[in-house]
Amino acid sequence: MGNRNLHILLVAGARPNFMKVAPVRHALDARVEPSRKRGIDLRVSIVHTGQHYDANMSDVFFRELGIPAPDRHLEVGSGSHAEQTARIMVAFEKALLDDRPDLVVVVGDVNSTVACALTAKKMGIRVAHVEAGLRSFDMGMPEEINRKLTDAISDLLFVTEESGSANLRAEGIPADRIFTVGNVMIDTLVRNLARLESGEFVPSEPLREFCAPGRKYAVLTLHRPSNVDRVEIFLPLWRAIVEIARTAPILFPVHPRTRARIAATGWVPPASGALRLLDPLPYVETLSLVDRAGLVITDSGGLQEETTYLGVPCLTVRPTTERPVTCEQGTNRLVAAERGAILVAAREALAAGRPAPRAIERWDGRTALRILASAWGSACWWATGQAWASGSAAASASGSACTPTSAIPSSSGF
Ligand code: UD1
Repeated sequence: MGNRNLHILLVAGARPNFMKVAPVRHALDARVEPSRKRGIDLRVSIVHTGQHYDANMSDVFFRELGIPAPDRHLEVGSGSHAEQTARIMVAFEKALLDDRPDLVVVVGDVNSTVACALTAKKMGIRVAHVEAGLRSFDMGMPEEINRKLTDAISDLLFVTEESGSANLRAEGIPADRIFTVGNVMIDTLVRNLARLESGEFVPSEPLREFCAPGRKYAVLTLHRPSNVDRVEIFLPLWRAIVEIARTAPILFPVHPRTRARIAATGWVPPASGALRLLDPLPYVETLSLVDRAGLVITDSGGLQEETTYLGVPCLTVRPTTERPVTCEQGTNRLVAAERGAILVAAREALAAGRPAPRAIERWDGRTALRILASAWGSACWWATGQAWASGSAAASASGSACTPTSAIPSSSGF
């Protein structure tokens, strides 16, 4: 009897997705040959929805993170939430009709995540969600809506921190679908920190003065609609930033949405000085700057986690976080989008300096391996209706216990 086929399709759409897809892709690629020898022809493909399309918001990450070019690009581009989500669904449905995978893997909480999960599920294709269970409990955030809908319909839910599995259980998701595996973003960070430490990366000329040893600078990122879309919120926030820059110079890689808002204020950013506006930066450059920073001010989800891992103080300009472990055990602190609150918090954080980083459970660079160890048996079972012959190393790949699942035949492994 010939080999059985197993096709796993990974969805990537927006900038924060690429760092999450990369380790899963690398782990799967490493399984292709061993699987073939054991009777499964594993095919891994990537569909890029095109939610983010600027070269420095997309292509550069594929190159840097060593992810092969997408097998299919849906080129949906920007639009209102309804337009963008609907365009992704229509285009993704065509892609699935052409080439029906056994499992669709979505990551994170962007519009591409929910659009592709919903499309696949309605076609009877199984869905895995990486970074499931996070909740800000703020339904005013588009991402919160995306998270809840995606989790409600996913077959396998891979969780980064304990709060995530508690949230899913509270929402009635059966425990045997939930796997507390850790954080794939940290897989990517760990892999690339090694590149940084090897001296492979040297910051470009204008940034070198900022990162000179002993120089205390801050990195700023702001792009949430709740912070940048309304001028009465954005302007006081912006004034606080300008004041902080008088004490600690600030590097500000600017998201296209925020760039448009700054342009609307009529302010022309100086080419140099203590508040330096930059185009969006590639991954390793961002990591290098964040790693050496005295402070990060942000409203990003990923940076809350990366700063916690690195032990860099982080002020998150939001009323809530869906990543509470970063405040409870890490270096993150929430701060209101108000001038006074930001100034006080920044002063305190800069004076206190960098604490020693605390390790978060399973944020260790091995999460993608744990995902495979947990999901492989289910994927083979669904694709072929037969249990995958055992005798290998799921346990050693997992490194630590994952929530067990009855969906995985007991003989699963790889
Ligand atoms: C999206 C995600 C957000 C994530 C962020 C990371 C949703 C609902 N939001 O927000 O969770 O934190 O990505 O960046 O999915 N634009 C460009 N070039 C691009 C991409 C966008 O110019 O390559 C501009 C367009 O004007 C677009 C705007 O940025 O309208 C917003 O892009 P969009 O993808 O709708 O949302 P983000 O704000 O990027």
